[in-house]
Amino acid sequence: MNKVEINKRGYNKIASKYNEERSIYNNSKELEYFLQLLPCNAKVLDVGCGAGVPVAQFLVANGCNVIGIDISANMLELAKKQVPEAKFIEQDMIQPIFPNESFDGIISLYAIFHVAKEEHLSLFQNFYRILKKRGILHFCLSTSANEGTDFMYDAELFWSNYSPEKSISLVKQAGFKILSDEILNRGNEEQNWVFAQKK
Ligand SMILES: C[S@@+](CC[C@H](N)C(=O)[O-])C[C@H]1O[C@@H](n2cnc3c(N)ncnc32)[C@H](O)[C@@H]1O
Repeated sequence: MNKVEINKRGYNKIASKYNEERSIYNNSKELEYFLQLLPCNAKVLDVGCGAGVPVAQFLVANGCNVIGIDISANMLELAKKQVPEAKFIEQDMIQPIFPNESFDGIISLYAIFHVAKEEHLSLFQNFYRILKKRGILHFCLSTSANEGTDFMYDAELFWSNYSPEKSISLVKQAGFKILSDEILNRGNEEQNWVFAQKK
């Protein structure tokens, strides 16, 4: 089974449990800051959107036009129920399906680390392509280089990360200007939280 299939099966299995426990991770400060950086009624892509809460829900409540993509049908079913105002599509984030300059912002919380790290540069390049000029990218990644499968609840999932330094160099290589890059503790877990802007 390939890595995408492992994660699709895993998140389909744990979608309800993940949704029930998502509030352990409070990302309200990051979401407020992301919103401040966007124009009014921004068009935003939520990558690896999960069950739509809190990210798509917060953005829609603040006037954004949101499209969420995810590989897990069960996560997307929850997202459609919880955030009916947004549009959700079953889609692997690595596939470049959107036209150039489609979005004012792209946000991807706790999701890019499920994509094989060799694909991170092309992922960031694609994000750059589909953002409008001065568009904002916000995401988090692990604080250390690692790769392999591990269990979350009772589902096997695949993770893959470069070091934060290498990840930042890839974001810059894709063309972005780094606005901030900070290790933050959320829900007793440390991640590297990045805000970047298309030049
Ligand atoms: C830890 S959850 C995070 C969900 C949501 N972003 C949040 O903040 O709650 C990771 C999500 O990424 C999705 N995912 C994993 N690999 C993906 C891929 N290649 N393309 C799109 N979504 C993916 C999973 O299905 C899952 O819903």
